[in-house]
Amino acid sequence: MINYDQLQKISKDYGDSFYIFDTDQLKENIELFENSFIQHYPKVEVAYSYKTNYIPAVLRIIDSLKISPEVVSEMEYDLASSLGVKLEEIIYNGPVKNRSSLKKAMINQSRINIDSIDELNLMIEILPEINLKSLEIGIRCNFGSFRNSVSRFGIDVKSEEFELAIQLIRDNGILHLSGFHCHLPDRDKAAVEWRTKQLLDVSLDTFENAPKFLDFGGGFFGSDFATPREDSVSFEEYAKIITGLVKSVYPNANDQPWIILEPGTALVANTMNYWTRVVAVKEIGSKSIAVVDGSIHELSPNGRQNRNPTFQLRHSSRSESSAQAWQVVGYTCIEDDYLSKDFFSDISKGDFLGYSHVGSYNIVMKPPFIRPASPILELNRNGEVLNVFRETQTISDIFAGFRNKD
Ligand SMILES: Cc1ncc(COP(=O)(O)O)c(C=O)c1O
Repeated sequence: MINYDQLQKISKDYGDSFYIFDTDQLKENIELFENSFIQHYPKVEVAYSYKTNYIPAVLRIIDSLKISPEVVSEMEYDLASSLGVKLEEIIYNGPVKNRSSLKKAMINQSRINIDSIDELNLMIEILPEINLKSLEIGIRCNFGSFRNSVSRFGIDVKSEEFELAIQLIRDNGILHLSGFHCHLPDRDKAAVEWRTKQLLDVSLDTFENAPKFLDFGGGFFGSDFATPREDSVSFEEYAKIITGLVKSVYPNANDQPWIILEPGTALVANTMNYWTRVVAVKEIGSKSIAVVDGSIHELSPNGRQNRNPTFQLRHSSRSESSAQAWQVVGYTCIEDDYLSKDFFSDISKGDFLGYSHVGSYNIVMKPPFIRPASPILELNRNGEVLNVFRETQTISDIFAGFRNKD
């Protein structure tokens, strides 16, 4: 565990707020996730959801561990290609795939899951422009209402459009339907079981034999949490549910689909901590306020979910005082910028507060509001900076595309 002096040293070069990335934790997560499934079912492929955390240095590590890229935009597609990943291994999802990215993905034989009939028509329109002999594609399925809510993604499997999509693919000499995809954000056991059964049902209705793949999307809890949850599900439990159901429908080892999984959160949530220094303390009425250098926007993807710090490292030269409820507030001018509410502790100016589990969606959803983003660092075992994964953002990074009037 890092100590105060080490943080102090880092802050001299990198400022009073920074993220620390834990590469060993990432490798451990990947191994645990993959092995949990593979021990029950050998035809498992894990693809990492780029949108969850697209730090290029992290993506390179993930690629080196033979995890495929799952992308949802041209930006992410181009990022994957720039890293030198195998283009045919890219899984291209998402509701809006523009013409140029779709064309690239088709030429490169990337694995496209279509989200609408219009997208399929666009692919058919592109075909004469490129010289493809054959291309396997998947359909993102929409299975209607689950817990009274209907997803906006994919093609409704009960609709005529779905039948039409399958027919269009079958009638096309070049495109081949090789599997189905679905992602839902609900991470509990019942939701995963529901999703699996739906995918299996549509697969049985459509294919005579097993499809080449069934892609279950992401939506898996990580192996631990910043605050424990009662509804947590282990990787092993997910694996038993999914592989058990798939095997019950496709028992013959020679005719089984690949199970594709697209975890984001499960692989990266616990790989990052966020450290920020207390820069001022004050009393306002009955409230004790600790102003930190950071912001809720660096801690919570939607800028709303405050929580207690996981760690506190106290300024070495300060004296102990009695614990009380602190409101930990950030640098923005928004009244709601509370990182923590009623955090019961003894806080002084100069202390560092550390928040764990900031690896999923934090970096990618930090707005350029009021201040550039903090740096992302990897440390060695002595708590010294080993690699800078992202420099502190600069003003020019943020204002690069804006033009002056004159
Ligand atoms: C298609 C798809 N796959 C994978 C993921 C990753 O999900 P999670 O971070 O919940 O694992 C998402 C997230 O929205 C998604 O939309």
